[in-house]
Amino acid sequence: MKKRFLTAAMAALCAISLAACSGGSAETTAADTTAAEAADTTAAEAEDTTAAEDAAEAETEAEAEENTEGGTLIMATNAEFPPYEYHDSSQTGPDGTDIVGIDAEIAGAIAEKLGKELVIEDIAFDSLIPELQSGKADLVAAGMTVTEDRLVNVDFSDTYATAVQSIIVTSDSEIAGPDDLAGKKIGVQQGTTGDLYATDDFGDENIDRYPKGVDAVQALIQGKVDAVIIDNEPAKVFVGDNDNLKLLDTAYAEEEYAIAVKKGNTELLDQINSVIQELKDSGEMDEIIGKYITAE
Ligand code: ARG
Repeated sequence: MKKRFLTAAMAALCAISLAACSGGSAETTAADTTAAEAADTTAAEAEDTTAAEDAAEAETEAEAEENTEGGTLIMATNAEFPPYEYHDSSQTGPDGTDIVGIDAEIAGAIAEKLGKELVIEDIAFDSLIPELQSGKADLVAAGMTVTEDRLVNVDFSDTYATAVQSIIVTSDSEIAGPDDLAGKKIGVQQGTTGDLYATDDFGDENIDRYPKGVDAVQALIQGKVDAVIIDNEPAKVFVGDNDNLKLLDTAYAEEEYAIAVKKGNTELLDQINSVIQELKDSGEMDEIIGKYITAE
């Protein structure tokens, strides 16, 4: 069986090589413009720019007035993934709804630093990347794993958490590790890395996909599947809620979470990275994580 390890170094490399590509082409364009051309157009451009800037400023001011603050920051997520994002009617999350969790709080901190109002959209996990691409959401914070395939479609921030894909089985199950999964029915949340990896390793015909991780866990309890593959933190929550389930010690794959933005939105990406760094440096990141995950 293949083991997958997308390390921080690999993710960073991908990010760097992509950045290098776009940076390179911008430089070439600038260098191609001759000095003469530049001199000719400078004065005219300067006037244009000022007019354009004024117009843009007026627009931003109008928008700002409408929203009283500096506009909204739209986070798309799938709030079925405790402790990263989930509904809890006993709490009020950073966007004023009942959506709470580590990602919600990190996005709340980003919105606060940008002077924007956070709006959280709760949609299907496999709709998150299209939501960014269509410009309907500004960022995706969803315990989303950095993968090479996703890097083709979105840009990822610096990583803020490491995770492993874990295996949940019923307490009386004879499945003891990934090798025992061959030929068994495996439940997953549609479109997650658990789905992608398990499909790859065990074959499409052995995978049952569910809209929510908790639905896959229900199917396990009902005996419709033999195991569930899901990220370790939600796995712990789901197993903790059900006496007849156990979490296997052997992890299936290691991965890293990051916030995704639309490809090329470097302005927001830089802002997100600087907030993540600030949260790490100030100890706030540990505080947020500690609030939702109790150290073992
Ligand atoms: N880390 C996994 C992935 O990126 C699962 C994330 C699921 N997140 C969620 N909010 N449902 O595919």
